[in-house]
Amino acid sequence: MMQRVWEGKFLGRDVIVKERFHKLYRHPTLDSKLTAQRLRQEVRSMLRARKLAVPAPVVYHVDQDTSSIYMERVPGHSLKTVLQSPDLNESEQIELMKQLGRLIAKLHDGKVVHGDLTSSNVLVVTTDGGSTSTTMRSLVMIDFGLSFFSTISEDKAVDLYVLERAFTSAHATTGETLFAACLEAYRKSSKNWSSTLNRFADVRMRGRKRSMVG
Ligand SMILES: Nc1ncnc2c1ncn2[C@@H]1O[C@H](COP(=O)(O)OP(=O)(O)O)[C@@H](O)[C@H]1O
Ligand SMILES: [Mg+2]
Repeated sequence: MMQRVWEGKFLGRDVIVKERFHKLYRHPTLDSKLTAQRLRQEVRSMLRARKLAVPAPVVYHVDQDTSSIYMERVPGHSLKTVLQSPDLNESEQIELMKQLGRLIAKLHDGKVVHGDLTSSNVLVVTTDGGSTSTTMRSLVMIDFGLSFFSTISEDKAVDLYVLERAFTSAHATTGETLFAACLEAYRKSSKNWSSTLNRFADVRMRGRKRSMVG
């Protein structure tokens, strides 16, 4: 997708602006329609996520003319960066992965398929517990640019499979363990865990067969 993401101000607030560009090789009218549709879906999913109590940036403004979303700038680092830093011990990492599993379960139970689950598309917000000297870390889901609404188990299973692949490539030594913790929390938390995880096993099998064939 052709787009630009930058930091700016909107009504005095720190925002992230996400602007989609026209793909010049496509038919202009068709292209405008698709861009508008994608933009609308991205915004819808962010709103639906928040309704489902899944933290996602607040949408401040949508500019149809420039195909731009003005959203809350979340003060945090990507889950990828956080997991790759030496700041967290193993149990803290596992805790974050369980949190992620529960959030994905909420999204999926609420019919939202993210479409691009990776550790780069999850932000970690750290709040200092003050006198208790505990650090609270909460996750915020971003980048709903490929999201859609679906109740089909296959769609949710593929969503999980994309995440698994992302983890095993971005977090070489720990990826499998981390993803397993996420999946376990998903299983405990999703109402439809059984059908989704059955499909997930199929999707995974197909993926392995494909990669063996090359
Ligand atoms: N609301 C936000 N708050 C803080 N950072 C953000 C926010 N949205 C996006 N970013 C940053 O910009 C990057 C790109 O945005 P993203 O929505 O993931 O688009 P894409 O990956 O399709 O370029 C993210 O990985 C993240 O680092
Ligand atoms: Mg992204």
